[in-house]
Amino acid sequence: MAPIRSLPLSRHRLAVAADGVTPLEATAVQTLKDAFGVGAAPAVGSAPGRVTLVGEHVDYVGGRVACLAVDLAVAAAIRPSADGRWRAVSRGRRVERQEPAMAGDVGDRLFAAAVALGRLGVSVPALEIGVSADLPESAGLGSSPAVTLAALVAMLRLAGARVDADGLVFLALTAERDIVGVPCGDLDQRAAVHGEAGTVVLLDCAGSRRLVVAWPWSGIQVLVATSGESHDVGGEGYRLRRQSAERACAVLGVTGCQEIGDRWCELPEELRRRGRHIATETRRTNAAAQALRAGDAPALGRLLDESHASLRDDCEVSTERLDAMVIAARKVPGCHGARLVGAGFGGSAIALVEREAMEDCAAAMTGVSRVPGGTWVVRSADGLVVTAADVVAPR
Ligand code: GLA
Repeated sequence: MAPIRSLPLSRHRLAVAADGVTPLEATAVQTLKDAFGVGAAPAVGSAPGRVTLVGEHVDYVGGRVACLAVDLAVAAAIRPSADGRWRAVSRGRRVERQEPAMAGDVGDRLFAAAVALGRLGVSVPALEIGVSADLPESAGLGSSPAVTLAALVAMLRLAGARVDADGLVFLALTAERDIVGVPCGDLDQRAAVHGEAGTVVLLDCAGSRRLVVAWPWSGIQVLVATSGESHDVGGEGYRLRRQSAERACAVLGVTGCQEIGDRWCELPEELRRRGRHIATETRRTNAAAQALRAGDAPALGRLLDESHASLRDDCEVSTERLDAMVIAARKVPGCHGARLVGAGFGGSAIALVEREAMEDCAAAMTGVSRVPGGTWVVRSADGLVVTAADVVAPR
């Protein structure tokens, strides 16, 4: 278990749901009341999902990622429970227990947020929690970290506590990795916290450095299409990908994938393709940053295509349906490139598309997925440093 660092927490105000709640947060409040009746005034919080443009399956080995916080989110409404039992309701599923223990259900990430805060000495009472979301679940868009972060923000408001941005990322990672037990990297949490509307965030996962690059086009956007195949970031496939990437770095004697260069070819046969993915993907992220700065959509599109090929052939996290969806998208004139997004093994594909071609591209992708309504045109959104500035201090 990772040691708990001390975080700059300071008491600053008691917050309850009041003016300024988003429609999604208002829905979470209603969901809470519908499920568990009227009670104390709830505190609310919400957090955005993320889309990775380039830089998949490299965050856990110190790679580089180009990503956005997106304008789809999860909201949580929380209030102390009158009888000391923990309750949660999310997308029609209700759970209840005596302790905030992990049970493999929708309560886990919410209660893990409370446990993570408790480990830092921020006492959180037994809670009733209602969740609402327009961010699709298990779609490769970071809904699990968004649930955790939404709950953390609401809990910080309830406790009248404040944390800095890196501290919030750390709390969310403690909840997800140490308490829920998912061996994820830090990309999703950092994107949701540090996202900036109108920009792409470039994360250097070898440390805490990040840059932002302006989204250079008004007529080109990111289309997301769910495959309908639910992905599981806590599953065995993800764990094994992470293990082999770490082994590849260890065999080469490097501390992170940015140091590999062309040395992936020295790896033993069983690690060579995994090593090639982490070495080349992080280079593609650097090239993506250049393409964004130059406003070169065809170049960025090619990088999306190459990233998909690497995820399919070297990382082996694609599915036949995702492959077919990206092929269908690329055939549409006005689509610059497409790839799977997130951990893979299902989830969604994204495409970089001219606005006029959006409908055709969405139709091409849903023609494969057969998920009616399963497409979203996403824009980059502000992360929690901006949207939850009352409880998250920038750093
Ligand atoms: C999931 C994990 C991230 C990252 C991506 C793949 O979203 O939570 O840490 O590893 O998969 O890039």
